[in-house]
Amino acid sequence: MIYTILSSREAQEWITEQRKLCVKQFNVSVVIDVLRATSTVITALSNGARSVIPVSNIEEALELKHRHPEYIIAGERGGQRIEGFQLGNSPTEYAEAVVRDKTIVLTTSNGTNAIIHASNLAERVLIASFLNLTTVVHELAGYDSSTNIAIVCAGNNGEISYEDTQVAGAIISKLTKNRAHYLSDSSKIAMKLWHALKKPNFSGEHAKKLSQLGFDKDLELCQKVDYMPILAELMDCKIIKVE
Ligand code: MLT
Repeated sequence: MIYTILSSREAQEWITEQRKLCVKQFNVSVVIDVLRATSTVITALSNGARSVIPVSNIEEALELKHRHPEYIIAGERGGQRIEGFQLGNSPTEYAEAVVRDKTIVLTTSNGTNAIIHASNLAERVLIASFLNLTTVVHELAGYDSSTNIAIVCAGNNGEISYEDTQVAGAIISKLTKNRAHYLSDSSKIAMKLWHALKKPNFSGEHAKKLSQLGFDKDLELCQKVDYMPILAELMDCKIIKVE
């Protein structure tokens, strides 16, 4: 079954439900925050970062920096770089010269929490964006169709994100091209959206906000399908590139 969790609010409900069962219900999860956290993670790893550690708040990031001064602390609140942090959440900031061999501690408003939520729901957590779309699909195609897959969209402050839902739909569409999977209604909705659009369409609320903040270059980069074909996975609380 492929179940698409469309917002962090819904992810929280799943986690509460799952705690009662004391078992992870999904074999594998795929986290999407295409604008911009998962696109940033993929860019950092593609440009040679050693790992990205997702944390849910600023204090945790500062604590890790205190213990490991060589780490880069990065993230945003309200879309803007957090005061005193070395990087924001613009994938365009994560050039090879800046991130090669570095460990990056990242905290963002929705995306890093979605990654942490997903680790409570599934045995494996993969990181997806348009940048690495087909690589993620190939990895999922290695599972048989009875596998329980959760596609976890970070959404926008508890609400559904138009852009994250498109990535979910694109993954489901490619994965089910040659074989049948049982799809939740949310997965069917995401797939229908992608079939209607056929290419990234960044016109949702968060895309508009990023444009107003002057991040048009990020919007351009995050729409590039398969531009950085890497597989990224959360392992022992760190996201690494899987070779
Ligand atoms: C988030 O985690 O909410 C986003 O990545 C926000 C952003 O665009 O920086």
